[in-house]
Amino acid sequence: MKPIEIADGLFWVGAIDWNMRDFHGYSTKQGSTYNAYLIMDEKITLVDTVKKEFADEFIQSISDIVDPKKIDYVISNHTEMDHSGGLARVMHKVGEDKPLFCSKVGHKNLSRHFTQKWNYQPVENGGKLSLGKRTLTFLETRMLHWPDSMFTYLKEDKILLSSDAFGQHYASFERFDDEIGDTIMPHARKYFANILLPYAPLILKLVDQVTEMGLEIDMICPDHGIIWREDPMKIIHAYVEWSQQKPKRKALIIYDTMWHSTEAMADAVAEGLYEKGVKATPMHLRSWHRSDVMTEVLDAAAIIVGSPTLNNGLFPTVSDFLTYMKGLKPKDKIGAAFGSYGWSGESIQLISKELEAMKFKVIDPGMKVQYVPDSEDLEACREFGRTIAQHLPPE
Ligand code: FEO
Repeated sequence: MKPIEIADGLFWVGAIDWNMRDFHGYSTKQGSTYNAYLIMDEKITLVDTVKKEFADEFIQSISDIVDPKKIDYVISNHTEMDHSGGLARVMHKVGEDKPLFCSKVGHKNLSRHFTQKWNYQPVENGGKLSLGKRTLTFLETRMLHWPDSMFTYLKEDKILLSSDAFGQHYASFERFDDEIGDTIMPHARKYFANILLPYAPLILKLVDQVTEMGLEIDMICPDHGIIWREDPMKIIHAYVEWSQQKPKRKALIIYDTMWHSTEAMADAVAEGLYEKGVKATPMHLRSWHRSDVMTEVLDAAAIIVGSPTLNNGLFPTVSDFLTYMKGLKPKDKIGAAFGSYGWSGESIQLISKELEAMKFKVIDPGMKVQYVPDSEDLEACREFGRTIAQHLPPE
């Protein structure tokens, strides 16, 4: 991919990954991009690299602007291999002795991924680096998305190179928000829900910190997807809203089923909720990918999970989803469990225990039906939905 000059002397030199469909368990139906940035100043500086498989194409893209040997500094904002996988090839081309700036944790983490003894220059939070016409400021952003993560701010350009934050897994030739419009927002939301949700409190603190520092931001350049230049505040405001996780009058009925009994229960619970004005969606876990379900979890008030009892335990897809959701730490949810069983019926207690571990307010008892629900059972499921609706916030 050819480089693109995104501001005077600042180039996008990343790679487009049209074919990636899974990012550690998150379905990336539209691929992704690995964005890196080349700053042409008195000290030529490269910020981040790309996945290892794209390293040759990346080096070619840099070479369209400058001989890589002329790069003076390399900055690693984040160790994860979608941004540092190409680092060994890049350092080999740039020069193994060139200063490599990263956070202190970045130094430790890069050293655990690469055996080369590079000229690491760990930086402090708020540390500065003059490139000539420009001054860079480094901002530690621990856990966004790893402990090593940091932002690089270009003061004179008012541009924030934000690493994973504000990104989207979205492969396209368009590079800017104004070229793509609001169609990008669902991708940004899915990315937030599946990558950054556990760190929502840190995001709110970070936004406060940036506001207090009075950083002027004309452009936000993340390491994935499109760049926010038309309205960078739009994504910041969206992050604040998503981080707050204010529940809506919305319920998800997330389930799997063996012989359609739990499915019939799910539909009936959803009907009961809908009767009470709740936006209720049954989500079969073999029809919905776990990461699409998580995107909906973001603003749902009630998470109602159903599983048949299989060999005294949960259906495997339900266990998978509960594990995934637990790691992403959604907050302030009402939880409930339901499911069919044949003879032992442990699934309800197992689901409730998991939801309680996530600090959900669990509505007890759950709804359990032996073998096949009859019309009375289905009416009880509808009533279960109506009862849950009483706990939800008003419209
Ligand atoms: Fe895009 Fe945390 O890597």
